[in-house]
Amino acid sequence: ALTPERRGDLTGRRVVVSAGGTREPLDPVRYLGNRSSGKQGHALAVAAAERGARVTLVTSAAADLPGVEVVPVETALQMRGAVLAAAAEGDVVVMAAAVADFRPATYAPAKIKKTHATHVDGTDDDSAPTITLVRNPDILAELVQTRGASDSPVIVGFAAETGDDDGSVLDHARAKLERKGCDVLVVNEVGEDKTFGADDNTVTILRRSGGQSVEVGPATKAVVSDAVWDVVATLL
Ligand code: CTP
Ligand code: CA
Repeated sequence: ALTPERRGDLTGRRVVVSAGGTREPLDPVRYLGNRSSGKQGHALAVAAAERGARVTLVTSAAADLPGVEVVPVETALQMRGAVLAAAAEGDVVVMAAAVADFRPATYAPAKIKKTHATHVDGTDDDSAPTITLVRNPDILAELVQTRGASDSPVIVGFAAETGDDDGSVLDHARAKLERKGCDVLVVNEVGEDKTFGADDNTVTILRRSGGQSVEVGPATKAVVSDAVWDVVATLL
């Protein structure tokens, strides 16, 4: 909520938020995607605008939000271009997008046919095609690299983690925060029925500089957003 302390505390700050799952095309009608709805990123953009920030939202999900400049994108490469361009002028960049780690190595300009196809792997028969993937650039890593020794912009990452035999959700998250070198990592536990597309979210906000982590939720994505901006505001 727009408490007195929050009202205008981001005034004049230029904020870039990425949101949604990228779509990596295979042919004109098909893509590889993920279940990210973009809702948390859109809520972050609206919350920042309410607190006075100038907000650029780079998103793969349709959006028409009050006080927010929306840059629509589909692929990770498009998102990279739009985010890096906006970040050059930004005080804060929040990577809430679910950026595809991989994209199909080739794009078929005509629809891939079930039979007698020239498949993406170059074969031409009735067998099922093999989709070869290549790595997408890591936008967050590039932001950290570009910033270098400067402390601006403040860079916030998101991590969708599940626990596994190698560690808990938070173990993986702390390791990721160190590896990524961003200032803040917002961690949510994912799995079936958790987070994706839901209106509520439960997150832990970690700071690389140390200090207490902040746990929020289950709460609306608006409430989670304000908690993220509260942490970011202490770093500006
Ligand atoms: N991210 C990014 N560019 C990518 C992949 C991820 O900028 N190509 C960003 C996401 O927007 C998020 C953060 O990096 O803010 C962490 O994403 P995540 O998928 O959790 O981390 P990865 O480094 O991709 O590791 P993995 O998927 O193997 O867990
Ligand atoms: Ca990833």
